[in-house]
Amino acid sequence: MRVGILTGGGDCPGLNAVIRAVVRKGIFHHQDEFVGFLEGWRGVVENHARSLDLAAVSGILHLGGTILRTSRTNPRKMDGGIGKCLASIEANRLDAMITIGGDDTQGVANALIEKGVKVVGVPKTIDNDLSGTDACFGFDTAVSIATEAIDRLHSTAEAHNRVIVCEVMGRDAGWIAITSGVAGGADAIFVPEKPIDIDVAVKAIQERRSQGKLFSIIVVAEGAKLPGTEKQATQGSKLDAFGHARLAGIGQAVAEAIEEKTGLETRSVNLGHTQRGGTPTAHDRMLATRYGSAAIDLVHQGAFGRLVVLRGTEITHIPLQDAIAKTRTVGDDLLELAAGLQPER
Ligand code: F6P
Repeated sequence: MRVGILTGGGDCPGLNAVIRAVVRKGIFHHQDEFVGFLEGWRGVVENHARSLDLAAVSGILHLGGTILRTSRTNPRKMDGGIGKCLASIEANRLDAMITIGGDDTQGVANALIEKGVKVVGVPKTIDNDLSGTDACFGFDTAVSIATEAIDRLHSTAEAHNRVIVCEVMGRDAGWIAITSGVAGGADAIFVPEKPIDIDVAVKAIQERRSQGKLFSIIVVAEGAKLPGTEKQATQGSKLDAFGHARLAGIGQAVAEAIEEKTGLETRSVNLGHTQRGGTPTAHDRMLATRYGSAAIDLVHQGAFGRLVVLRGTEITHIPLQDAIAKTRTVGDDLLELAAGLQPER
């Protein structure tokens, strides 16, 4: 078969591992040919593609980013965008497409499925908030980077008797914040799922000071909101083609509120895109490889309109449209775990 591949949306450590697994399994076991569209849906709209053979995917397993590059192009917002995608797919004589991306990318894939394109999706987002799967590759790497950063913040905060607020990614769900925050021993963790309560942080900070510890670390997800605030903290007013604002600044707002309430010197750090860069962990390479291998097998089983997912320890698949229907948020169990490690309010 001739199969098209693309990586869409924000990049994510492990994308190259998925591409490599799809191409190797497809060539070695199914005698497939592959076409890689460049820069996500932009490459499909503009028919900008390259062939992917064994040489093209050699030496990429451990590399961050994506050899196909990516973009947040939304063909549904472009004049004749979906029609141009259909034309590219036909011009490349493709029997199927494998779309590696989060809810935005899979939303476009779903629009093409409705037009008869044969698609298998692979879930991707470091935010880990795609519903239907227990984990997205890239999340483990992001958490490792954030946890290491939090570990490093401890010593500088301690040296200066400071409070440091660490802002991590997580637009609609606080998976990175809760996981790196618990793993990094943060004194308070704020997530988009619940309005920020500054008094929780203040209480934890004061408790630590009363025990002779003169520093504190607070972790906040970029998408968390202060009480009474309708909007998330943003950088500028630009929206991307899927309507998302650039989030940034809640860490600084929390730091200012803490300093005002406690009188303690407080700083903020935004880890930003460092969480998405560089080498994927072994866990993410493994998960990405399992997803890629399962995706090309599904193509050959004719199981189209499906998204490969992880359920427990098993790779299985669900209707692609189920994954884009809603966000998978952090459950009360983990929020209670984090709260249980701090003094009662
Ligand atoms: O892919 C999800 C995400 O990492 C969000 O956590 C973050 O808000 C966003 O991407 C940043 O996107 P961009 O790379 O377009 O700035």
